[in-house]
Amino acid sequence: MIVLKKAKNYEEMSKMAYSIVKDVVTNNPNATLGLATGSTPIGLYKEMIKDYQAGVVSYKNMLSINLDEYVGLPVEHPESYRSFMNTNLFNHIDIDKANTNVPNGLADDIEKACKDYSAFIASHPIDVQILGIGGNGHIAFNEPGTPLDAPTHLVELKEKTRLDNARFFDGDINKVPTHAVTMGLKDIMSAKKIVLLASGSNKAQAVFDMLNGPISTDCPASVLQSHPDVTVICDEGASSLL
Ligand code: GLP
Repeated sequence: MIVLKKAKNYEEMSKMAYSIVKDVVTNNPNATLGLATGSTPIGLYKEMIKDYQAGVVSYKNMLSINLDEYVGLPVEHPESYRSFMNTNLFNHIDIDKANTNVPNGLADDIEKACKDYSAFIASHPIDVQILGIGGNGHIAFNEPGTPLDAPTHLVELKEKTRLDNARFFDGDINKVPTHAVTMGLKDIMSAKKIVLLASGSNKAQAVFDMLNGPISTDCPASVLQSHPDVTVICDEGASSLL
C-alpha cells in the first residue's frame, strides 16, 4: 500500500522523510538502512546529520546498503556513488565505514558480485529503504523493461537517464558511464518499509504513473503498489499532475 504525502517544497519533503527515518533509527540502534544517491535525498541526509550532531541518534551499530553504483568509475571519482555517500552522509555521522555497503562497479566478476549483493540483502533485511525516482520511472537503476522480480544485476543505462545525470559530469553525456550495477526490484521490495522522495515537475509524470498506472515494467516504480508499507513524499512540482 502506498501512502502519499504532499510537501510544500524540498525542505518540507526532506523533514517529512526524516520524521519516518528518525522513528526507525531512534527505536533500533542496530537498524539496517537502505540508502539512495541523487540530488533528492541530500536534504534528508542533512537532517540525519543535524540530529546526529545534536546527540539524538548514533549510527555506530547500524548497517547501510546502497542501491546502486556506476560500472567502471574508480571509487575515488567524485561522482561514484561511494564518493557521494561519503561526502553527503558517511563522513558526517558515526557509522563504521566497514558497515556501509555500495555495489562494486569494478568487480572482475560482476555477475558473482551481483549474486553476493542480493544474498547479503537477503541475510540483512532492510528496515527502511530510501528511494528517489528517475524521470522515466526508474528506481535505483531499474530502467523501464526490467523484470519486476529481478535481483541485483548489471544494467545498461537508458539515454534519458544518462542525459539526466550528465549534469554531474560537466554536462557531458559522454562522460556518464554506460552501465551500472543495481539492486533489483526484488531486493528493493524485500525492505520492511520504503520511503520514496520526489522533487520537481520533471518527476510529475513518473509519480503519476507510479501511483495511478498499471503495475508494469514500463514504469518500474509502479511495482511499489504491491508493497505493504510505502510512503511517497512529493513536493509541489512532483505532485503537480495528481
Ligand atoms: C539516479 C539514481 C536513482 C535516483 C535517480 C534520480 O539515476 N540511480 O537512485 O533516484 O537518479 O536522481 P535525482 O534525485 O538526482 O533526481
